[in-house]
Amino acid sequence: MLKVVKKPKRVSFRLRDREIFPNTILSPMDGVTDAPFRRLCRVLSGNRMGLLVSEFVPTDGDAVFRLDGHKQLKFFPEERPFGVQIFGRFPDKMAEAARKIAVELHPDFVEVNAGCPAPKVAGKGSGSGLLRDLPRLQEILHEVRSALDSSCPEMPLTLKCRIGWDSESINVMETLKIAEGEGVEMLTVHGRTRLQGYNGLADWNWIGKVAAAAKIPVIGNGDVNSVATARKCIDDYGVAGVSIGRGAMHNPWLFGQIADAWEGLEPKEISATEALDVFPLYYKFKLEDGSTELGAMGRLKQLAARLCKGFVLDGADDATMQVRQSLLTAQTAEEFFERLEELRNGLAKELRYDPSRLVNLNGAKETEIREGDQFS
Ligand SMILES: Cc1cc2nc3c(=O)[nH]c(=O)nc-3n(C[C@H](O)[C@H](O)[C@H](O)COP(=O)(O)O)c2cc1C
Repeated sequence: MLKVVKKPKRVSFRLRDREIFPNTILSPMDGVTDAPFRRLCRVLSGNRMGLLVSEFVPTDGDAVFRLDGHKQLKFFPEERPFGVQIFGRFPDKMAEAARKIAVELHPDFVEVNAGCPAPKVAGKGSGSGLLRDLPRLQEILHEVRSALDSSCPEMPLTLKCRIGWDSESINVMETLKIAEGEGVEMLTVHGRTRLQGYNGLADWNWIGKVAAAAKIPVIGNGDVNSVATARKCIDDYGVAGVSIGRGAMHNPWLFGQIADAWEGLEPKEISATEALDVFPLYYKFKLEDGSTELGAMGRLKQLAARLCKGFVLDGADDATMQVRQSLLTAQTAEEFFERLEELRNGLAKELRYDPSRLVNLNGAKETEIREGDQFS
């Protein structure tokens, strides 16, 4: 019998005059979502990613912003529609960086970051530090938009923010108003405060309130890790789409699975052996991008630390640990791949790969948080 796949109410959104399908974004993650990682997700999803964004690019440091000093700016034509995200606390520097990026690199949009919680960013007043100084955020958006208007008026400006600095000062509704007033054309809301960092679960009720009040597309962000959660967030909280960060490290096929479901197909299931085959592919992409073997190996372990949490062997709780430990303790790339081969020919044949069972992506014990808790 043909299985009916339920689609969400919305499967795409518009960024200015461009239709974005599926309505997903790979969240920028510094030190993770470089060109090779984005390529991995693109290849595994059949190039159905929605939007891609660069890792955030600092603008405060240079006396005059230089494109050649920032490796995060590298992107390829096949990644379009692609946005460059910038952060900083000086409106003139942000504006100059945006102008240069727009004129010389021609991305499809420029995004301002008002979400980074890292002390060296937020503590200096940029990233989520801007949420404690909304007049400054407004000035930055104003100056960046003006710089784009006079150089590249066709370039949309977008904003990514958190819901506020802490639970006593949630100001995401003011942020929305400012953004809309300054010509921002898409707002991504990460449903945590700065103080939360990445702890606890994102507050989707706040995200829903913003989406309901907004005239521009609001993209919800936080804890989306499966086709089902993406569908629930879009339908129940009225967002135009979802932005997926850590979920992509647990499951780099997720964008393709979402696109499958939105196209009315049964999302492709990934076997444990297929999941393990991602490592040589990622390694190849890293080396082709000019990474050293050591650098590429570091990224393999970064991916393994998350992806392997999706392995399950019914009745044997320590199977996941065994796979993770085996890969994470490899000393060289050669050793990593030898162990991978052993796993492929042995344990992996009995494992299932089910990354959607992970609800808390921050690594706390899975028993503490259960499926559905994020929406209670
Ligand atoms: C390692 C790491 C690096 C990140 N770097 C950025 C960044 O450069 N720009 C940004 O807007 N958000 C950054 N974030 C935040 C993510 O984009 C996202 O908002 C957050 O992880 C919540 O979404 P998730 O629950 O889907 O992971 C980063 C998150 C992580 C874990």
